[in-house]
Amino acid sequence: MTVKRNPVLDLEITAVRKDFPALDQRVHGKPLVYLDNAATTQKPRAVIDAVDRFYRLDCSNVHRGVHELSARATKAYEGARGSVRRFINAANEREIIFVRGTTEAINLVASSYGRSHLNAGDEILISALEHHSNIVPWQLLCEQIGTRLVVAPINDAGELIQQEFERRLTPKTKLIAVAHVSNALGTVMPVREIVRMAHANNVKVIIDGAQAVSHFAVDVRELGCDFYAFSGHKLFGPTGIGVLYGREDLLDRMPPYQGGGDMIRSVTFEKTTYNDLPYKFEAGTPHVAGAIGLGASLNYLSGLGMDQVTAHECDLLAYGTNLLGLIPGLRLIGTATEKAGVLSFVLEGIHPHDAGTVLDQLGIAVRTGHHCAQPVMARFGVPATTRASLALYNTKSELDALAHGIQRVQELFNK
Ligand SMILES: Cc1ncc(COP(=O)(O)O)c(C=O)c1O
Repeated sequence: MTVKRNPVLDLEITAVRKDFPALDQRVHGKPLVYLDNAATTQKPRAVIDAVDRFYRLDCSNVHRGVHELSARATKAYEGARGSVRRFINAANEREIIFVRGTTEAINLVASSYGRSHLNAGDEILISALEHHSNIVPWQLLCEQIGTRLVVAPINDAGELIQQEFERRLTPKTKLIAVAHVSNALGTVMPVREIVRMAHANNVKVIIDGAQAVSHFAVDVRELGCDFYAFSGHKLFGPTGIGVLYGREDLLDRMPPYQGGGDMIRSVTFEKTTYNDLPYKFEAGTPHVAGAIGLGASLNYLSGLGMDQVTAHECDLLAYGTNLLGLIPGLRLIGTATEKAGVLSFVLEGIHPHDAGTVLDQLGIAVRTGHHCAQPVMARFGVPATTRASLALYNTKSELDALAHGIQRVQELFNK
């Protein structure tokens, strides 16, 4: 992201780090440098306390009880939905579906919207930088109903080739599914432009926002997308909770994804009628504590200010890119002009797993592997990368530690 440095937007990083208890520990005798935020983020005290409070005091099922604890749990759960709505600026809370995470959100759309609105021969357009979660659900749908998956290529920097994307947007295209930010490369996709092109052709768009929402403010109405998916655990919230945003008129016309309690209005053996939105898509006891924790994380982020978070991370990313660029034998994978949060790289003659293991011994947590994006690895001709991924609490001195760590790895393996 090209955000100009503005001293007014400086985060009080020392104070922010104190909000995250897990950051204050030693690993293998070294201060923890946590750079695996694209996999999952650490949790601020506000989230831990909200979950703790729920289990200590308010633990109850939601929506069905007349007693005080159930009323409190319901209020907190629905309050969290309100926090999500505000965070992404959705029009109303009926458009906010709590799910397990991005993966479930995309599967929900593939299963419910896909099977009810797409037909054999229709095409689903994705990009070549998608996470497996935004590939496999569409492949399953293709196997089930005979739709076709079409993939738009990326260039050597890891950017979408827009002319190639446009060329693949044909009268057969009925749905576009793209990441907002690539988890393997950090590329920020031109989603506004994609939505504009799609809607001009009467095509619906689902955006996989798993790697976007923690890095910059997302306004679903401004984007104009039809669906937007993200996971709580990558956004400083609990695991097992996530969000599908969907436009109300579309969600209204979609059949339930799963059947069970809470998603019904009435049940007889002859006929069942379904509940209103959003409950039609929330079958069974939801992850109440998770939703409450997610709400707390969004309120925490709003308190910090997403613009401040973005400015801090842009600064970090520029610093880290420059620093790693100075290391001989290091090749950055993913050099898009518009990038967020990710420094993926390979080291000449050294397997990423070896690099990751040595870095771990130095207290530096990075991820190595294919990052659930095997087609991206294939595109760049590498089996795996080492990925350092940033969050609002990271610092330049942590990136210095990473650079020193990489030099140590090279000394060990390139003797
Ligand atoms: C871009 C992207 N999409 C989808 C997912 C899947 O998220 P989850 O495992 O939380 O469902 C991830 C997780 O790494 C991701 O980075």
